[in-house]
Amino acid sequence: MKLWGGRFTKGTDKTVEDFHSSISFDRRLYRQDIKGSIAHARMLGKQGIIPPQEADIIISGLEQVLKDIEAGKAEFETGAEDIHMNIEKLLTERIGDVGRKLHTARSRNDQVALDIRMYLKEEINETAGLLITLEETLLDLAEEHAGTFMPGYTHLQRAQPVTFGHHMMAYFQMFKRDIERLFDCYKRTDEMPLGSGALAGTTFPLDRTAVAEELGFSGITGNSLDGVSDRDFAIEYCAAASIIMMHLSRFCEEIILWSSAEFRFIELDDAYSTGSSIMPQKKNPDVAELVRGKTGRVYGSLAALLTVMKSLPLAYNKDMQEDKEALFDTVDTVKGCLLTFTPMIKTMNVRKEAMAKAARGGFTNATEVADYLAKKGVPFRKAHEIVGRLVLDCIARGIALDELTPEEYKRVSPVIETDIFEAIDIENCVNARSIPGGPAHRAVMESIGKGREWLQQINRVLTSGGVLDSI
Ligand code: ARG
Repeated sequence: MKLWGGRFTKGTDKTVEDFHSSISFDRRLYRQDIKGSIAHARMLGKQGIIPPQEADIIISGLEQVLKDIEAGKAEFETGAEDIHMNIEKLLTERIGDVGRKLHTARSRNDQVALDIRMYLKEEINETAGLLITLEETLLDLAEEHAGTFMPGYTHLQRAQPVTFGHHMMAYFQMFKRDIERLFDCYKRTDEMPLGSGALAGTTFPLDRTAVAEELGFSGITGNSLDGVSDRDFAIEYCAAASIIMMHLSRFCEEIILWSSAEFRFIELDDAYSTGSSIMPQKKNPDVAELVRGKTGRVYGSLAALLTVMKSLPLAYNKDMQEDKEALFDTVDTVKGCLLTFTPMIKTMNVRKEAMAKAARGGFTNATEVADYLAKKGVPFRKAHEIVGRLVLDCIARGIALDELTPEEYKRVSPVIETDIFEAIDIENCVNARSIPGGPAHRAVMESIGKGREWLQQINRVLTSGGVLDSI
C-alpha cells in the first residue's frame, strides 16, 4: 500500500504511477533528504514530540539507509513515487514501525523545499569555486599579456589598440559579477523551510532554529505558505547561470574567431580541439562551440522554471515537481562548461605577433592623430574630419598612418610636428590610456592587483567556512 493509501479503495493506474513518479531524477537528493530527516528526528526527540529513544532508533536507521544506498545495497522503486517516500520505506524496512514516526509534523512539501535548498547551497559553492579558478586563470593570462598588443573592436571592425591582458580583464570583471550574483542567490537559498508543513505550519512545538543550525542554515523561512511554494532561489540560480553562460558564449565566440585562419590570434591546444572525419587539415574549436551551444539549454531551463511557476496559486502544486530536472541540468551544464573552458584557455597558445600586426593595421591609431590635433587646439570635430581625409588617402595608397611623411602631415595641418610619430605609435597609444580601468600597462597591472586582492578575500572566507554573504 502507498504511504498515503488510507483514503483510497483502488490502486494507482500503472500509467499514472510511471507518470507522476519522480524517483528517476530526484534520487540524486538522497543525501540531503537523509540529513534533513536526521535533523528533524533529533529535534522531534529533543522536543519530546516522539520518545527520544525512538528518535535515536530512527537516526541510526537513517544512517544505515545512507550507507546501504552508497554501497548499492538499496533499491529505489517507482511505485514509492519519490525520494522522500523511498527513503521512508527503506527506513521502515530496516527499523520497523518506529520508522513511521519520522514524518510527524512534516510534509513532503516542506521536505522537498528543504532538500532542494540544501542541494543548491552546495552547488552554488561548487559553481563559485569553478568561477574562482577561471578568474585566477584570467588574472595570470592578463599579467602575462599586459604588454601584448591587439586591436580592440567595435562592430567587429578594428577600432583602437588595447592589449590581450586588458581584454582578459574585461572577462575577469564579467565573471566577478557572476560570482557576486551567486553569493547573493546563496543568501536567499540559505533559509530553512521545515516547519511549514503542508502549507499551514504545524501544531507540534517544533524547534525550527535547532534544525536550521544542525543543517547549517543561517535562518528559517518566514511564512509557511511561502516556505512550501517558493522556488525563487532555483530561478535565481538559473538566471545567474544563464548570465554565466552568456558570458562564456561571448568568450567562446571570440575564441572561435581568433583561432580561424582569418585571425590566427590564438591556437588551441590539441587536447582541446577536434578533427574532421573527412577533411584531414581541420582542427576545430568544438569545445568552444559546444559551450556556446549549451547556452541555449541553460536559457531554456530558466524559461521552463519561470513558466512552471507562472500563475501557480499558493501553496504547493504538483507542477513544482518539474523544477528539479531543469535545475539539475542547469547545474550540470554550467559546471561541465566551466570545467572544460578554463583549461582550454589556460593551454591556448597566444600568437602575440599576429595580434600586434593586426593592431598596427586597420588604422587603430586614427583617434590618436585626432587627439593630437585636439591637444594642439584644433576643435575635435575639425580634427576628426582632417584625419578622416588622411585615412581615405592612406587607404587609396595602401599605407598606414605612420607611413605618411612629416611633410604630408604638415600639409594637412601646420600644428603637426614630428612628435606625431611617437604619439601614434601603438605602444604609446595604449600606454597613454592610463586612466583607471584603461588598457595601459600600468592601469592593467593595477586592476590585476585589485582582482587578486578580491580573490584572496573570497578564498579566505570560503576556506574559513565563513558565510558567503559577508563578501
Ligand atoms: N516529489 C514531490 C516534488 O518533487 C515532492 C512533494 C510532493 N508533495 C505532494 N503533496 N504531492 O515536488
